Amino acid sequence: MLRLDAKAIEERIADLLAEMTLEEKVGQLTLSNGGGGHVPDWLRDAVRSGRTGAVLNEVDLDSVNELQRVAVEESRLGIPLLVGRDVIHGFRTVFPIPLGQAATWNPELVERGARIAALEAARCGVNWTFAPMIDIGRDPRWGRVAETLGEDPYLTSVLGAAMIRGFQGNDLHAPGSLAACAKHFAGYGASEAGKDYNTTNIPENELRNVHLRPFRAAVEADVATLMTSFSDIDGVPATANEFLVDEVLRGEWDFDGFVVSDWDSVSQLAVHGLTENDRESAFQAARAGVDMEMASTTYAHHLADLVEEGRIGPPHLDHMVANVLRIKFRVGLFSRPYVDPDIFPAFGCSDHLDAAREAARQSMVLLQNREHALPLRSDEFRSIAVIGPMASEPYEQLGTWIFDGDQALSRTPVQSLRERLRGRVDVRHARGLETTRSRDRDGFDEALHLAHASDVVVAIVGEESILSGEAHCRSDIGLPGAQAELVKELAGAGKPLILVVMAGRPLVLGDLPGHVQAIVYAWHPGSMAGPALTDILLGEVSPSGRLPVSMPRTGGQIPIYYAHKNTGRPPTPETFVHIDEIDAGAPQLSIGNTSFHLDVEPSPAWPFGFGLGYGDVRYRAVSCPTPELKMGESLEVIAEVTNHGPYPVDEVVQVYVRDLVGSVTRPVRELVAFRRVHIEPGEVTHVTFHIPSDDLAFHGRDMKRRVEPGRYHLWVGGSAAATLQTEFELIADE
Ligand code: BGC
Repeated sequence: MLRLDAKAIEERIADLLAEMTLEEKVGQLTLSNGGGGHVPDWLRDAVRSGRTGAVLNEVDLDSVNELQRVAVEESRLGIPLLVGRDVIHGFRTVFPIPLGQAATWNPELVERGARIAALEAARCGVNWTFAPMIDIGRDPRWGRVAETLGEDPYLTSVLGAAMIRGFQGNDLHAPGSLAACAKHFAGYGASEAGKDYNTTNIPENELRNVHLRPFRAAVEADVATLMTSFSDIDGVPATANEFLVDEVLRGEWDFDGFVVSDWDSVSQLAVHGLTENDRESAFQAARAGVDMEMASTTYAHHLADLVEEGRIGPPHLDHMVANVLRIKFRVGLFSRPYVDPDIFPAFGCSDHLDAAREAARQSMVLLQNREHALPLRSDEFRSIAVIGPMASEPYEQLGTWIFDGDQALSRTPVQSLRERLRGRVDVRHARGLETTRSRDRDGFDEALHLAHASDVVVAIVGEESILSGEAHCRSDIGLPGAQAELVKELAGAGKPLILVVMAGRPLVLGDLPGHVQAIVYAWHPGSMAGPALTDILLGEVSPSGRLPVSMPRTGGQIPIYYAHKNTGRPPTPETFVHIDEIDAGAPQLSIGNTSFHLDVEPSPAWPFGFGLGYGDVRYRAVSCPTPELKMGESLEVIAEVTNHGPYPVDEVVQVYVRDLVGSVTRPVRELVAFRRVHIEPGEVTHVTFHIPSDDLAFHGRDMKRRVEPGRYHLWVGGSAAATLQTEFELIADE
């Protein structure tokens, strides 16, 4: 297969540019929606005449190969097409939603999931995916929090890079590799009030230190493309934002792939009120450095005129086209435009389902386990009531963005528990509620009857997939419908009650933890929800998922995230006063002046990084053998961790630091390293980390990235609330 080196690619690009007409150049910058299973005449004509260089949403292989044939054989210059699709968390085989995958804290597993998704999508002719989404998810009202990798820039950076490696493979040119697209550049996660597409107001320091960090990591991981966000950031929508695209992405980070708009986000510049019409929108987006327009057609209609009028210079246009062609060469399209499906593994083959099961297992977070209610010992009971509207839902367990997911591959919890316990335990099922949103209590009687008649109750509740994802935001993120009532009434049966939550976001569980013995937070686990949950409930594996987000106690706490600033008046247990504690008898002028809400404890319900297992993991000691770190070197950190419990566990050992004094205020803690380690019962293990001084960098007042000397506190433990602490000093260069 012909493979060109970087120099030869640039030469070929220059040759092509020299031959292309203005219309053909604009065609390479136009991304058109496919016909969804056939090749419509207008699209055939557009490809043949070079008026479109990329297609999205066509996954019928015959149609894709036919479109490629028209591009290669019938268009004047024979330039093949990019074929894009939202392959977000699997293709036919569905992996946990990205937020669930983030809960694995396992980069290798995340990479493997993306690799499998790439192989299945490539079988249909897809060569470009609109993933990973690496927006920071600090507002669970926002439906797209499901697509994020959580609240933390470091975790998102590490897992986003892992996804890119999975999609793009070791070799982007090889069959089965997809060009990845890091999105949405930038700041989309800060949409006000967690309402999709809403305005964002992010000061530059926060933008750089939090929201841009994963994108910088994506560029370092050689991501092929980036997508601009829908949102308006500090008065300039991202799709027209020269600072973001031209200055930071191209200027500071040297990105040489291409930038695509989001769906209609170029024409929407006029809706934002930034431009008067499509021509001006095309101008502003192109000027900012958005190379390709998705869906809307302002480039197709106006870019050539803008060049002819001299508003967009020909070199600028050529630069945009070159960015697109470069990726087409890197993906190998010129040497291999057609797809032979037989070289790829079958959809949903056992290898893929096994990987999806492992990902689902590792994504589930055990939040509570009173009286060791879990694991269920199947020799100790004869019947189990599996109740709830999410217990037997092959489609709903898949979560958002599953255009190509095959629900026929889904195995539900009810099915899997029945299979696994057949002949030993009677597994009964009742929905209790028609849907998670339902308030109709008609099904309660049957559910309660089963609960009373069974030895153990597993309630599987949450949110259907439609309640999260793009544009599916909620202002109240409690359990929808009458589910909380159902769970409380089930508790009245007096049986061990295990609560399983399948949802696209961290929900506010209110007082439910007090009514149940154990809580497994399962997100939307994908195709293999049933087998994975069964493995955990029956103790075949110890739960090892860890929260990639802080779980709020109330919606009013949002945004709540562990890496907040200290403020000048941080609350302490001594200064916090709950509304119920205010003395009614004596009028008071003040009950103190620290930063808290009167009606809720300042901490989250469960902190970032938290998750239980069936072992008894204890953090014994942490040390930095050389507590003076020189610039450019790495800090060695050694943690001693033991498992006193009877089960082998996978523990996610986490390291947090605090830069005590900075030229700008620094978060109270920041995750700087983590590792999954397997610990046998009774084992004492020493986990060593090497933290490069550069990982402590941040952007200062001048917005430049820097590492500042000074004292740091360091914690090691199983969550952002870890208490085992040491400190070190970062020494300035002489
Ligand atoms: C979403 C993108 C997605 C695109 C193409 C948009 O509505 O914001 O994330 O990649 O559609 O489907």
